[in-house]
Amino acid sequence: MRQIATTAELQSAVAEAKAKGLEIGLVPTMGALHEGHLSLIERALRENDMVVVSLFVNPIQFNNKEDLEKYPRTIDADLKLIADKISAMDDLRATELLAFTPSVDEMYPDGEPTEVYHFGPVEEVMEGPRRPGHFSGVAVVVRRLFDLAQPKRAYFGEKDYQQIAVIRALLKQIQYPIELVPCPIVRADDGLALSSRNMRLSPAARAMAPAINATLEQAAEMAEYEDVDDVKEWVLDTLSSYHEVNPQPDGLKFEPEYFEIVDAITLQPIENWDDTDNGAVGCIAVWLDGVRLIDIVKF
Ligand code: PAF
Repeated sequence: MRQIATTAELQSAVAEAKAKGLEIGLVPTMGALHEGHLSLIERALRENDMVVVSLFVNPIQFNNKEDLEKYPRTIDADLKLIADKISAMDDLRATELLAFTPSVDEMYPDGEPTEVYHFGPVEEVMEGPRRPGHFSGVAVVVRRLFDLAQPKRAYFGEKDYQQIAVIRALLKQIQYPIELVPCPIVRADDGLALSSRNMRLSPAARAMAPAINATLEQAAEMAEYEDVDDVKEWVLDTLSSYHEVNPQPDGLKFEPEYFEIVDAITLQPIENWDDTDNGAVGCIAVWLDGVRLIDIVKF
């Protein structure tokens, strides 16, 4: 593993790899790595000759200043996790991993980028209206990473389900021949979707959080015999009233922001289970203990 902090170094390493005909896999991250990220890195190491893992907390995708400030920055621990992952793997195809750890000035030398992306209906639902500018900020940094790393494949986790749809739309817009590789959510033993934000939960909130996935799993069973609207309402009611049924210390409670059942590709809400040929996905955002958690369930 080689740590690279400048775009010039990354571009020269990529040019060298391309001259040898190597296939590059890109895993964009904001650091604070957990097993979810490591599963993306592992897959990229198995499917490519060289892997670029970016660790960059992208300020322009945060519409909430406090969230940006509180975002965990754990570069040394992250690099160790990557090194341990590489040494624990035996049949990896990649011969080199570049950990790209640029500063904000290095990524945006001319100051905050002015370009703005629009993706139409896929960004007009769920996270889009609630986090104005978020997906455009993601697209700016991801495109920059595409330009720098010139990957054949790019790996994204399905926990940020809408982000994948946005990256799919970005690739269509800019027409880069990059294969988008969506990777399944990795969960803790108790079912909580792994997220860098989980480390901000108090022990009591962390103990309560698996109820999100448990509720979604029950919803998937209900979908066999209940209508879309009934399943939606049941999920929102179950989580909103969780603290009444299971009294919690410190007044802890779930505050669902949304739960939508949508077409798995277009992300448009469906009214009936057979309104989609792409499959249906339930996407949820819930506040708990001042932390915004998101998760999905496939129906
Ligand atoms: O999913 C994330 O961690 C970020 O949105 C990404 C794709 C690394 C862009 O900053």
